[in-house]
This record gives sequence, C-alpha cells and structure tokens, in this order.
Amino acid sequence: MTVEEKVKVLVGMGFILNIPAPPEADSGEAPAFPMLPQMDPEDAKVPEKVPGAAGRTHAIPRLGIPSLTLSDGPAGVRIAPVREDQPDRTYHATAFPVATLTASSWDTELLRAVGRAFGQELREYGADILLAPSMNIHRNPLCGRNFEYYSEDPFLTGSMAAAFVDGVESEGVGTSLKHFAANNQEFNRMQLDTKVSERALREIYLRGFEIAVRTSQPWSVMSSYNLINGTWAPESRDLLGTILRDEWGFDGFVMTDWFGGNDAVAMMKAGNDVLMPGTLQQTEDILAAVSSGALSEAQLDENVERVLRVIVQSPTFKGYEYSDQPDLAGHAQIARHAAAASMVLLKNDEHALPLPTSATVALLGNAGYELSVGGTGSGEVNEAYVVQLEAGLADAGYTVEASLQDEYHRHIADQKAQQSPRTPFFPTPPIAELAVEVDRATQLAQVADVAVITIGRNSGEMIDRRVENDFTLSDTEHALIRNVSAAFRAAGKKVIVVMNIAGVIEVASWRDHADAILLAWQPGQEGGNAIADVLGGAVNPSGRLPMTFPMTYADVPSADNFPGTVLPSATDQPASPLFGVPSEVTYEEGIYVGYRYYSTFGVEPAYPFGYGLSYTDFAYGDLELSAAEFQDQITMTVEVSNTGDTPGREVVQLYVSAPGDVLEKPERELRAFAKTGALEPGALETVTFTLTGRDLASFDADRAAWIAEAGTYTVKIGNSAVAIEEASFDLPQELIVGQAHNVLVPQAPIDERTSRGR
Ligand code: BGC
Repeated sequence: MTVEEKVKVLVGMGFILNIPAPPEADSGEAPAFPMLPQMDPEDAKVPEKVPGAAGRTHAIPRLGIPSLTLSDGPAGVRIAPVREDQPDRTYHATAFPVATLTASSWDTELLRAVGRAFGQELREYGADILLAPSMNIHRNPLCGRNFEYYSEDPFLTGSMAAAFVDGVESEGVGTSLKHFAANNQEFNRMQLDTKVSERALREIYLRGFEIAVRTSQPWSVMSSYNLINGTWAPESRDLLGTILRDEWGFDGFVMTDWFGGNDAVAMMKAGNDVLMPGTLQQTEDILAAVSSGALSEAQLDENVERVLRVIVQSPTFKGYEYSDQPDLAGHAQIARHAAAASMVLLKNDEHALPLPTSATVALLGNAGYELSVGGTGSGEVNEAYVVQLEAGLADAGYTVEASLQDEYHRHIADQKAQQSPRTPFFPTPPIAELAVEVDRATQLAQVADVAVITIGRNSGEMIDRRVENDFTLSDTEHALIRNVSAAFRAAGKKVIVVMNIAGVIEVASWRDHADAILLAWQPGQEGGNAIADVLGGAVNPSGRLPMTFPMTYADVPSADNFPGTVLPSATDQPASPLFGVPSEVTYEEGIYVGYRYYSTFGVEPAYPFGYGLSYTDFAYGDLELSAAEFQDQITMTVEVSNTGDTPGREVVQLYVSAPGDVLEKPERELRAFAKTGALEPGALETVTFTLTGRDLASFDADRAAWIAEAGTYTVKIGNSAVAIEEASFDLPQELIVGQAHNVLVPQAPIDERTSRGR
C-alpha cells in the first residue's frame, strides 16, 4: 500500500449532512451547525451506499478494500428515510426501546435478542458497523443523553452492553462501544476536561467498558470527545493503548466520535486508528507528518492492520447481498416485547393494576396522545409509525373517554400550530400541558372508571436537562395530578401515572396522589401497545430500576459539580452549540455514584437502585454459601419462589459489602444478578452465583492494582439495593487480582468531598 492509501483507510470520507440545516437564528444565537470542517470534494461525489448513515471509510479498489458503512445508533438503525432516486419508497427502521429501558429488564437474554434484531436490520440495509452500544454511566440525572445509556452501575452497564454486542455481532456485523470514556454530560462536550481520580475512573467509568471488551470483543470502540485529566481521550495512548489494548486485550480498531480530537497525528500515535467522519485537513496533516518523519510509517501500518482485520469480517467485504427488506414486522414484535418486559412498576397500592380491559379510561397528559418514543440526536430513529397510548389502550379493549380524547387532540394540534419549526437534531420544545381544573376532573370521574395520567419528557444530544420544569414537574403537571387524584379518589376510583420519560424526574412530591406508577421510559415505536400490555396484565412487569430515584435533585451526589465550569480561556472564543468552549468538570463524588452514595451515606432515596414491583410476590429461601472461606471462588445459591397467584419473573440481585481497612468501600456494590424464568404460582427456581477474586476487588491507585482485602465479606441478596438475605464469608489473605498501570493520573489531586475520612 502507498502511504496515501494507508491514510485513506484511516481517515473517513467526510460528513454529509442529511438533515436540512436549521434556520439561521434571528435571535443572535449562533446557528446549531456552523461551518463544518471541509471534506474532500472528490469524496462528496461518491454516492452513499446507505444514505443517512453516519459515516463511511474509504475504499481502495486497487487492493480490493471496500468502503465500510457506519450507522447509528443505540435505539435503532439511523438511516435517511427518503432517497432522491427512489421517490416512491421510504426506508424505515425499527424504533426499539431506548437503552435505559432495555437495561431496566436486567435480562441479558433480552439484550441479546434485541441485538440480533438490530444486527439483522443493519446488515439488510447494507451497513457494516452499528455505532452502539452507548454505555456511559448515569453520573447525574440531567445528562441529556442518559436515555442512550444503561445505568448508574458499571457492572449492570457492562453486562447489558456485552449481551447486546454478542447479539448484534452474531449477525455478522460489528458494533462500536461508545463513548470511551468519562463522557457523562453534553455541556461543552467537545471541549470538556473531565477531572477524575484514578480509582473512580477504574471502578465506575471504565469498568463497564472493561467488562464488555473482555466478554464480547467488539469490532470497534469509539473514543469520546472530552479530555480526561488534561489529555483528549482520542489522543491518549494511556487510554487506548495501555488500558484498552494491553490490559484488557482489545483487538479491534478505535474510531473517534464525529469531529473528535484535536491533532490527527497525535491520534494516530495514540492508537485512535480511524478519524471520523474524516476531514481534508486531517489527511494533509498525517501525510505531512509522515514525510517530515514526525509520524512513522510503522505506526500507520499498525493502525491500518487493525482496521483491515475488521474489514475482512464485514458483510461488504464478503460481498453480502443485502435485501433492503429487513424483517420490520418481526422486529416490531421484538420491540414491543422488550419494552413491556422492561418497564418498572414503582407503586401499586391495593392492586390498582392490572386494570381490567373492560374499563373506561380518562387518559390525561399530552404524552397519552403524543408519546415520546425515543430521544433526539444521533440516537433518533426514523420509524414507520408510533403506536400511541390511546391506540394501544383501545386495541387492548379499553374505552378511551372520548370527550377528553377530543379535547387533547385539539389542544395538541393548536399548540403544534404555534410552535416554531424544530431545529433538526435537537429535542422539540415540549407542548404546554392542558390545565385540568377540579370541575372537569370531577366530571371525568363520573364517566370514567380510572384515570391514567401520563407525564412526558424528552431529551437529546448536545444539551443537558434542567432542574426546573424538567427534573421537577411544572405547576400545571402538579395541578393535573392533584386535581384528578382528588376527584377520582372522591368517586372511589383509582389514579395511575405512566412516566414516559427520557431521564430521572422528581417523584417524591406527587407520588402519594397516585395509586399506581408505571415507569415506561421511552418505549420505542410499539410503546402504546407495550404500556397497555403491562397495564392490562398481559405482561407482568419485571423491570427494575437501573439507577436511583432521589428524593430531590439536591440529594444527587454530583449536584454541586454538574455540569462543570467554563474556563477563563473560553472568553476569546465564539460560543457554538456544536463545538462549545473550553470547560472542566471535577468528579468530586469519586466512586460514590448512584446507590454507592445513597447506601453509604444513609441518604434515603425516593426509589432505590434495583427497585421494581410485580403483580405477584416472591419469597427467598436461605442464602447458602459453598464455603465459609474464599478460595479462588465462592458459590452461593438461593431459592426463589412465586408465592402469589400470577406467573412472573424475579430479578435476583447480589451485592457485596467488602472490608474497608486498606481502602474505604461503598456500603455495597452490585457484583452479580440473575433473572428467573417465568415462574408459575407456587413454582421455585434455584439461582446460583459464583464470585471470583475480581468480584471482591477495588482499585488501589497506590499500587495500580485490583485488590481484594483480607477480612469478612457480607453478601446481600434481594430484589433491590435493599437486601432480603445476607451471609458472610472470610478472605484470610489479601488477593491481588489484576495488575494495572498508573495512567490517566489527575494533574492535581482530586478533592473528593464524599470521602469517608472527611
Ligand atoms: C455522537 C455519536 C454518534 C456520531 C455519529 C456524534 O455526535 O456523539 O454518538 O455516533 O455523532 O452520528
């Protein structure tokens, strides 16, 4: 290969903006998409194999190297629905439930099945690599992209991602774990320096990636936009070489996030093999560095080899004849099942649910008629249709109260008519809720059997959420819940709240007004059917929270240091929503993210991590350990039985409390979980867990090693972060279960506020 050919393999073919540019803001704000870096004009002439896919690599026809097509994303295959040369055809893709919802299933088999459907759809549309799973940690509920991410816990995140990758890649296409790493917010995401301790990085922010890489060996990893302790992630050989490849054994290639990184040559040297989407400048910079000797050809060879090893596995290289006819009907059924099986029942007083399908429902809240089925940005999907909740309820047999339905249709149409056109890629500003006064609520309580109130939220790429009127409910929403609840309860009728949300919201101030609360997250195109399946009892809910719901935003451990601060050097830069300005954020809460914080510091959450109800009840037998002392591994078993009168599935969670003499420890950490099969009433299942030394270990930065301390370990088993059964075992001597390296060290010590020593 010539040097030019090598560089072609490593720099993508540029960005084709497949969405109309947003209207120039008259308000004086900077436009959302400023001048993007220039691509090679020759590349722009090459027709896209899959229009609307996020990116493509260069072909080298002389050598039989094809161009790979890379397509988003985590909730479905993102391609353009229309193609200029085919005015009569629309290319739709399945909008699956968002990752936060599928993670709520705690079911690796389900993630595998959803992954297979994604893989098939991607392959049949002619693409090679799916730009997913997105697996950053929910550090703070306001992160605009949390819906794309799985959980606040790295073990759950890694387990879900590994299963999803296995599913997708079993169809002969690739995945890209993203965004590697410590990219936990959107605020100034392209210029943000994340300052984080080595231990928090290893235990919280890298651990999920480590599990997925070691378990599933994905074809690729996407580096993140941010800096970590002063170095751009895509320019960090410590991150991409020492940690990802040397320590974890990753053998795929690394690509940048779109327009990520600063210095093309530094990225090559760091082992960030592919620059996406690729710019003319990057090509020129790399060629110049090779000719000046600043970049060795041997380095390029290493990068190229890693890419070629993936290319030869791709469907395009193998000449796969894709159909452009994926099994959309079959995938819709998978989406419906995955959504229903993952929803979380947060409250169900006096068996308010399931609701007989003969009921007349007063369906309240805009989301009942306009579901938010997925988030915005690169995680958005062009689905063929959305099953609204009003339709899902009707299909299930319910009567949706007609006068209210008309009122909402009119209200939503009026509001939409007044809205300014949506800025592509960004969330549509929410429509004001209809005010429902007491008189109207009382009237409805006469004609309907039950009230179903929906609370809707959306969010997306490039902006984080706000506390007011987003994390918290608006005054109109509060009044809606209060008035409807008072009226229906006065009439002896129940109130169900369905949360159709992209991220965690405040619940403590209003939940007493609801008899049942169903957390539906953003359920994908079959959302209305899936919600009705759960409300009616066709599906017994078995989802569990993959994060904590706090009592108030102020309780969130990162509340005081999210989203960080703009640096003084930013003043001479024009603000741009796309590229942002230099900023930094310090992860002062260290390892105490999510339930690790709430359980250690005794802060009562509204709903704990792992929580979720069922229409049936489960009982646990004694927790039995294979030994009183740990040797290499330890096995534990517990019997779970269905003591209720409905078939159902239980999520058995295993937390470990480790001794904290050498290193301080969180009160508990999730180390294993299992989902039972569908247990008939009276049936039982024996669940077995095996823990290895690594499952007991924490990262000791002083020794750059994973250490399991000598002492007594308590295992806590239950169906949430609140344990039901406990048992203990001893580890007689400290174990070093993994030697790592001191890399990505903070430039100055991080002042971790929550350290127990303070
Ligand atoms: C996002 C990535 C996405 C890429 C390509 C970026 O803005 O951060 O997650 O894969 O665009 O669309």
